[in-house]
Amino acid sequence: MEDYKALKEEIKHLKEDKNALIMAHYYTRPEIQEIADFIGDSLALARKASETDADIIVMCGVHFMGETAKILCPGKKVLVPDMAAGCSLADSCPPEEFEAFVKAHPDHTVISYVNTTAAVKALTDIVVTSGNARKVVDSLPEDEKIIFGPDHNLGEYINAVTGRKMLLWNGACHVHDRFSMQEILRLKEEHKGAKILVHPECRRPLQLIADKVGSTAALLDFARNDDAREYIVVTESGILFEMQRKCPGKTFIPAPPEEAGCQCNNCDYMKLNTLEKVARALRDEAPEIIVDKETAEKALKPIERMLELSK
Ligand code: 13P
Ligand code: SF4
Repeated sequence: MEDYKALKEEIKHLKEDKNALIMAHYYTRPEIQEIADFIGDSLALARKASETDADIIVMCGVHFMGETAKILCPGKKVLVPDMAAGCSLADSCPPEEFEAFVKAHPDHTVISYVNTTAAVKALTDIVVTSGNARKVVDSLPEDEKIIFGPDHNLGEYINAVTGRKMLLWNGACHVHDRFSMQEILRLKEEHKGAKILVHPECRRPLQLIADKVGSTAALLDFARNDDAREYIVVTESGILFEMQRKCPGKTFIPAPPEEAGCQCNNCDYMKLNTLEKVARALRDEAPEIIVDKETAEKALKPIERMLELSK
């Protein structure tokens, strides 16, 4: 803890000296959320990046979040504490294969989830996050043909709530695709009054038993404004820190994954962000996100369209 105290002090001084903004996703470690200037879901992180006047952005999340920030702010230095912080969902959509899918359906509007590489965004008409996907899809004419990728579970959810028949890419997140229905029903038996909060990256049957389906920020908001005392949280367990902080009198129960005993309700990529790496990134101003100019220019349009449509 002493080490943490010294590191936190160092980070504070470095970020002030360098006019840096530290942003963190809800799935990062508690000590990262504690030092962050801004914590949010993917949508809020993208919005904040587009608005900040900091010279340096330290994105404590995963690679695509840093890339999105860099595309929105090409003139700023965007650092990610560990370049290995990838995303299994983004990996489930290789750009060459997605391009072939897009080309095979030339009369379709292409909607991509923000959990994609810049190269996939560059093939996209509109980017969405789980926080605005429904609103963006609803804004399009009813007869518009749509391709949606890469998250199949989110795509199924949006199809169900909007009545669309979007063509879905078959990608998934290794954390959200693994929650166990049986274990969640068992928890519900034990905690009869508990409400079930589900991220839309989880499978459809889990979405159907949820009291609330939503992005990390939407789940947090629901818990803050709802009157239940207990919640079964079916998303990455890092969010429990902010839920507990915002709702101190309530109990949040992390949903167990399929294989009992494994830590697979943790996103190992998100947990690569540590205080040591944040301090090092600020000291060295590295590792820095670089996106080639042509890809960045193509990817910017669908991200801006998302921000515009979800105002
Ligand atoms: P949110 O947009 O809900 O924060 O989700 C991001 C993510 O990576 C979920 O796995
Ligand atoms: Fe990607 Fe899944 Fe981690 Fe979210 S939880 S960043 S979708 S691997």
